[in-house]
Amino acid sequence: MLLSSISLALVLASSALSSSVAPRAASASQVPAASTMKAVRIHAFGGVEQLKFEDAPRPVPAKGEVLVRVQAAGVNPVDWKAREGLLKSLAPTLPQILGYDVAGVVAELGPEVQGFKPGDAVFAYLALARGGGYAEFAIAKVGELALAPKKLSATDAAAVPLAALTAWQALVDTAKLESGQRVLVHGGAGGVGHFAVQIAKARGAYVYATAGEQNQAFLRELGVDRPIDYTSERFEEIARDVDVVLDTVGGETATRSYATLKRGGCFVSIVGPPDAAALAERGAKGNAILVQPSGKQLAELAALIDAGKLKPTVSAVLPLADVKRAHELSADGHVRGTLVLAVGGR
Ligand SMILES: NC(=O)c1ccc[n+]([C@@H]2O[C@H](COP(=O)([O-])OP(=O)(O)OC[C@H]3O[C@@H](n4cnc5c(N)ncnc54)[C@H](OP(=O)(O)O)[C@@H]3O)[C@@H](O)[C@H]2O)c1
Repeated sequence: MLLSSISLALVLASSALSSSVAPRAASASQVPAASTMKAVRIHAFGGVEQLKFEDAPRPVPAKGEVLVRVQAAGVNPVDWKAREGLLKSLAPTLPQILGYDVAGVVAELGPEVQGFKPGDAVFAYLALARGGGYAEFAIAKVGELALAPKKLSATDAAAVPLAALTAWQALVDTAKLESGQRVLVHGGAGGVGHFAVQIAKARGAYVYATAGEQNQAFLRELGVDRPIDYTSERFEEIARDVDVVLDTVGGETATRSYATLKRGGCFVSIVGPPDAAALAERGAKGNAILVQPSGKQLAELAALIDAGKLKPTVSAVLPLADVKRAHELSADGHVRGTLVLAVGGR
């Protein structure tokens, strides 16, 4: 989805995405007494104190849905933004279970689901309108999930979906990045950035990426050609005539980035609409995108992972009950790679 003229929050508010909300719970009459599960729910939008580790009804898969026994759930910045109420207009119903990245095992298929069977190891990015990942069981639409990469544990697989899909949809679908092009990735050490760097390298691009001093070696390990320390270097003096900028930071970083683009270059933001006038002045184009679930693209990413071309970095694995700590770490803005919650044993 391309976002061009209004803020991400407003677009989220008026999104044409499904208006359904939290996973449907089985009604008491249909369900045996054991059909509850442990989950982290919020009963009101607000701070970390709203995250409640508690019993919740186990969801039941409807037509075209798969019930996943969750082993691990990824934590992305959108999780704490949703907790604070940023996605309220998209997912207003309370209580709700947050969490959009899951890895686990197929527990049950709803009617008319093909391509999966109970016991399959899968991973998924669950639509922002529904979420449901911080739980022992979650519902994925069949189009949202794929077989998990064979080489990864569930905790590593859970770090992939949202961040890697964002990087892919930004660089491949939107910017159409080609071999030999020059790309500048802001926030190269973060969830989206560390996948973007690897995807750009796999496509044969020359990669500049920004991060703080403590992440310069990490950027080099990821394959970045010219790491840039944003605390001591001016990236616009180093990255010149670039074909593609991927902005995961926004604000002043976005404003200063327009000067790095060559004529015909492409600026892709995941944090808000770029300045159309500034881009037009340079003969460049720009888009803001909102990541969309795609089981098909997850399968392509799984193939890249199994081929050794893409690797998630998990900076910490915390128990589901420690979700507050995970939100605090994410909101601090300096996670390397991705955070994961361990939900059940493999
Ligand atoms: N539109 C969409 O579809 C979409 C999808 C995914 C994410 N997002 C948004 O995009 C943003 C990034 O997401 P993410 O998952 O990558 O976040 P993240 O993993 O939390 O990003 C953390 C990283 O940002 C780096 N960073 C912080 N300030 C920086 C700066 N001034 N310059 C360069 N790097 C900086 C940090 O590196 P240092 O520690 O070295 O500073 C850290 O590694 C979030 O706001 C998220 O909500 C949007």
